[in-house]
Amino acid sequence: MRVTATDQFMLEPIIEPNRDQGTSRDAIGLGQAAGKGLNTRHGTILTLEDISVSFDGFKALNDLNLYIGVGELRCIIGPNGAGKTTLMDVITGKTRPSHGKAWFGETLDLTRMSEVQIAQAGIGRKFQKPTVFEALSVFENLELAQKTDKSVWASLRARLGGEQKDRIEEVLDTIRLSASAQRPAGLLSHGQKQFLEIGMLLMQDPQLLLLDEPVAGMTDAETEFTAELFKRLAGKHSLMVVEHDMGFVGSIADHVTVLHQGSVLAEGSLEQVQENERVIEVYLGR
Ligand SMILES: Nc1ncnc2c1ncn2[C@@H]1O[C@H](COP(=O)(O)OP(=O)(O)O)[C@@H](O)[C@H]1O
Ligand SMILES: [Mg+2]
Repeated sequence: MRVTATDQFMLEPIIEPNRDQGTSRDAIGLGQAAGKGLNTRHGTILTLEDISVSFDGFKALNDLNLYIGVGELRCIIGPNGAGKTTLMDVITGKTRPSHGKAWFGETLDLTRMSEVQIAQAGIGRKFQKPTVFEALSVFENLELAQKTDKSVWASLRARLGGEQKDRIEEVLDTIRLSASAQRPAGLLSHGQKQFLEIGMLLMQDPQLLLLDEPVAGMTDAETEFTAELFKRLAGKHSLMVVEHDMGFVGSIADHVTVLHQGSVLAEGSLEQVQENERVIEVYLGR
């Protein structure tokens, strides 16, 4: 492929990606265009090639190849145990592949970076269960997410700069929680907590957002808003969404990847993959 092997994870220094976006005032207030600050010359933000992960000889990922375009909104579907979560673990550095290539942009080798380095380089992950600080207000949660050093609780009491405040207001507006800014996060509905957590990710201006089953447990209205939100975020960010809810997948994704037994079984529009014989076999069980 386009990237040749190197002993360093970084071939050339990246510009601090999206660390100074407090003043951005673009259409939806979500920071820079996707891919900026990263070397994504070929329009690919994520390249996975021949990725394998073994657990005691069992191959959770098996020579997986996957490419995500800059600004793309990709849905990953597949039966339980297909390797979807393991895939996210590999991208975020939580699990190391036994072999294969994983590049973020053209120059960052994810297999050589720590989880912290990967997060700092611009990959944000949302787990299924929201992990907001329940005793803090919605506003404070976002404020804390903006901080690089999360241990500095005292900084909550320090005065916020105008730009930081504007940025928080923008994100509050994006996730439709402006009216609840001063409420303790613990009082939010399950769906609102999910939105807050997405907002906390956005405070870090990630290039690539990984979302594992984001609409599980949401009401229909919340699911609809999530679809709208993701469509707005795409283009500015690249999104990889693992989801079982086919109605939701159909409403957001123009490109779907079906995983099965650790490999890509099919790729295309939802309609295309739903007509694929092998996909039908896997979902209906032969
Ligand atoms: N830490 C682990 N140790 C052993 N097996 C694992 C581990 N993590 C995942 N697996 C196995 O790998 C396969 C893929 O799991 P997972 O990525 O969680 O699938 P999915 O998210 O698509 O349901 C499953 O068979 C699972 O049991
Ligand atoms: Mg999973």
